[in-house]
Amino acid sequence: MTSYWSKYTESYKLWEKANNLFLNGVLTLSKSPMHIAPGACPVFAERAQGAYFWDSDGNRYIDYPLALGAVVLGHAYNDVDRTVAEQMAKGILYSLSSRRELELAELLCDIIPSAEKVRILKTGSDAMSAAVRVARAYTGREMVAVCGYHGWHDWTVIRTTRNAGVPAALSKLICEFMYNDIHSLQSIFDQHAGKVAAVILEPVGMYAPEHHFLERVSALARKNNALLIFDEIITGFRLSLGGAQSYFSVKPDLSAFGKAMANGYPVSALVGNRDIMNAVENRVFISSTFGGELLSIAAAIRTIDILREKKVTDYILALGQQLKDGLNAALEQQGIDATCEGMPHKTFLVFRDMAGASGKMIETLFRQECLARGVFLGYGHFTCFSHTSEDIQASITIAAEVLRVIRDALDQGNLPSLLKGPIATDVFKRY
Ligand SMILES: Cc1ncc(COP(=O)(O)O)c(C=O)c1O
Repeated sequence: MTSYWSKYTESYKLWEKANNLFLNGVLTLSKSPMHIAPGACPVFAERAQGAYFWDSDGNRYIDYPLALGAVVLGHAYNDVDRTVAEQMAKGILYSLSSRRELELAELLCDIIPSAEKVRILKTGSDAMSAAVRVARAYTGREMVAVCGYHGWHDWTVIRTTRNAGVPAALSKLICEFMYNDIHSLQSIFDQHAGKVAAVILEPVGMYAPEHHFLERVSALARKNNALLIFDEIITGFRLSLGGAQSYFSVKPDLSAFGKAMANGYPVSALVGNRDIMNAVENRVFISSTFGGELLSIAAAIRTIDILREKKVTDYILALGQQLKDGLNAALEQQGIDATCEGMPHKTFLVFRDMAGASGKMIETLFRQECLARGVFLGYGHFTCFSHTSEDIQASITIAAEVLRVIRDALDQGNLPSLLKGPIATDVFKRY
């Protein structure tokens, strides 16, 4: 695929190469242009600073994906990078444990209400898989009740359209329930009494909990002697320093943190109840060569210190709300059937079909035109400590201008002709 726009020439030259070298042309599926605006979006970034990045053709963008939510302070954040450089001079991975691991674990236990014992890992998928293993070992049960996305490992993708290569037998062990629908979880316990090891969910995914959903999930899990696992990979360090469990005062048995924990350095953590962890520690195998990699651990300690000292969460939530309110006002003004949803730590646009155009088509055009004007509003919008209120306002102004273009195209019935490439596709669908 090539781009018709000269502004993305270098990106699409590299994209040709990438397609020959990588599965799907990318290392992270949601960074593929196929899922953003095929042929009509940048593909390769060259450098990033603060709340901005520059693509390989030299175009600058205000960044809202922020590396899928991992960057919470800002790109190339001096204070964190200096700490990393200091650690680099002392070695990055030892043949024995390092006291810095203890420092990070103590910090996590200090800020996360349910954290008493910790396993430091690399990715969110690692931490979530470790949580499932601990829960199965502790309860002696194999089934898990799951809601939503939790990474790329077998048990999490079995019920998606990208489940090739995953043993079909596994599907018997995974039951899906719906967020904010306590009956869907109750019916799993009714059908599989005494067999469910854990209930796994993001405490807040696309929507906020309603009708005390989290408390009711917690009560149901306890009543059925299943562990409650919170996936705080996104909520952690963004919704509140202690995660959604702190924000909503609901304590899980185990929880997983990652992404924003180290401002983009790769590190994650499984944390939880000490008695549970102690009961299984000689029977489970959760171990990795790079578990004690010290650049990321040093980055996490410094990042969490800064988050705490500078009250970063309050700041990014206020900006997230400003963005959400501004986008919703602009949508309403143009009469576009779409809404900006989500709690302010992560918002996203939902475009619905209208005037003969599919929601996905309108969304693709919206992304194409916002990117052309220097704003990257991807699937999930995050804010960071380096964004300013002026950045947010400038982005809203640009989004409003794009929505006016979309409104005109819908009125004239020529929206498809404005698309410079095919309609974007979803990374996968659930079933
Ligand atoms: C809620 C949630 N859980 C788990 C993961 C997996 O994390 P990672 O991509 O670091 O393996 C993600 C990644 O996007 C996520 O959004």
